[in-house]
Parts: sequence; C-alpha cells; structure tokens
Amino acid sequence: MADGFSLNDALRGSGKPNPQGWPGSWGNQPAGAGGYPGAAYPGAYPGQSPPGPYPGQGPPGPYPGQSPPGPYPGQGPPGAYPGPTAPAYPGPTAPSAYPGPGAYPPPAQPSALGGYPAASFYGIPSGPLNVPYDLPFPGGIMPRMLITILGTVKPNANRLALDFKRGNDVAFHFNPRFDENKRVIVCNSKLNNNWGKEERQMAFPFESGKPFKIQVLVEPDVFKVAVNDAHLLEYNHRVKNFGEISTLAISGDITLTSASHTML
Ligand code: GAL
Repeated sequence: MADGFSLNDALRGSGKPNPQGWPGSWGNQPAGAGGYPGAAYPGAYPGQSPPGPYPGQGPPGPYPGQSPPGPYPGQGPPGAYPGPTAPAYPGPTAPSAYPGPGAYPPPAQPSALGGYPAASFYGIPSGPLNVPYDLPFPGGIMPRMLITILGTVKPNANRLALDFKRGNDVAFHFNPRFDENKRVIVCNSKLNNNWGKEERQMAFPFESGKPFKIQVLVEPDVFKVAVNDAHLLEYNHRVKNFGEISTLAISGDITLTSASHTML
C-alpha cells in the first residue's frame, strides 16, 4: 500500500506525477466548509499546543493555511497564514508562549467544543481532548473531505485507533499496533459486529512518545491516509453510504491535541 510518494510532493507541485491523486491545492477553506463551523483551524488556541513540534511542520508549510497559525516552531508568524482567522489570534501564536507540557491545563475537558474561552468562542474542538473522542460529521463524509488529527503517542503505547463509524458498523478502522511482533497498521471494517479481512501495512511512521499528524482524505473510491505529511496507505471503501458515516471515534494510547475536518 505504501510508496515513496509524499504528500508534500503532491501539494507543492514538484513536477513529479501524482500517482496518489492528492489534490494539488489544499488551500485554506472558509470556516465551516466541512459542515462544522470553524473546524478548519485546529490547534491554534491556548492550551492546545502539543508538547513538541509536529513532524513535517517546518517552514515551507506543505499544507497552505492548514497548520495552526503559529504555535509550532518554525512555522513563522501568524501573518503567514492567509485566511479569515489568521489575524484573529495574536498573543498565543508566538512559539515562546508554549513552554512545555507542564504549563498546560489538566487534560479534563468539559465538552467536545472545548473548555477554553477562545475555543468555545470559535466553536472549535480544543485540545488536549479526552480520549476516546468522537468527532462528528454532520451529514456524513464525502469526497474531498479532509480529516486532520494531531496528537502525541504515549510512551510505551500499545495501540491507537481511528474508527469511521456508521452506527455500530466501522466503515474504516485504522489501527496502528505497537504490541505485535512487528509493529503494524491494521485496517479493516466491522459490519454487523463482524470484522472483515484485514489489510496490513508494515510501513509504520508512529513512535512512542512522539507527536504525529494523521490526515485522512476521503476520495470517491478510497480513504487516503497520510502521516506526518507523507502518504501512507489507501483503503478501498467497503461501506458506501457516505452520508451515514457520521462519526470518527479516536481511541488508544495517545494524547489528542485536535481533531477537525475541512473540505478541499
Ligand atoms: C481484532 C481487534 C479489534 C480490531 C480488529 C481488526 O483482533 O480485537 O480491535 O483491531 O482485530 O481486524
């Protein structure tokens, strides 16, 4: 499933072909484009900062407008992120405003919309978020929907999972496992309480204790998954009623910084 083609290549228009078919322009979208007001701007609020820089978030900014406006080292000033919200977040965007994990509020979060005043104001899920965490998709999923999850793998992690759910069915289970003989990512679907045939991916970009970014792009035929800005795998849709896939359940041995979706 994996290959050497990186999302960065696709997005920067490196001149390489685009065998994965990632859209060429991932520009920022108006808040609410994903059906969830403001969800396009993860991570930019007080208390949301991860304990360390996310891989692949260096200066060139492979995802224009997608990264939070400023709290991560090397991301440049807020003004570098054109879009409606960039100027709205002064103070907290300076890297020095995020001294480390010890400075953050405790992880107990009162609601899915976040307990911090700024986050509540903008109606955006704010981290660190309680895990397991459910990200709702009002109206289901659809092609060109991009889901972005930022978090950090716990030390000595065993497993984490993303479950795109249609009621009790799991349309897409993405399950990195540290606890098998060889670390592996298991993908599968669960229909009527029965797991189907597993698709196993040996490329394993996660590390215990390290921050990560997972992006899932819904395409007409597949879910495409990139981790830390590199394409990882595709999973053919087994559940086709996109409109009924209305939740992403995020679980396992992680701290969750943000979970959001937008439309490309
Ligand atoms: C099972 C496991 C489930 C799920 C499934 C995927 O063994 O208990 O949590 O990961 O495999 O095929």
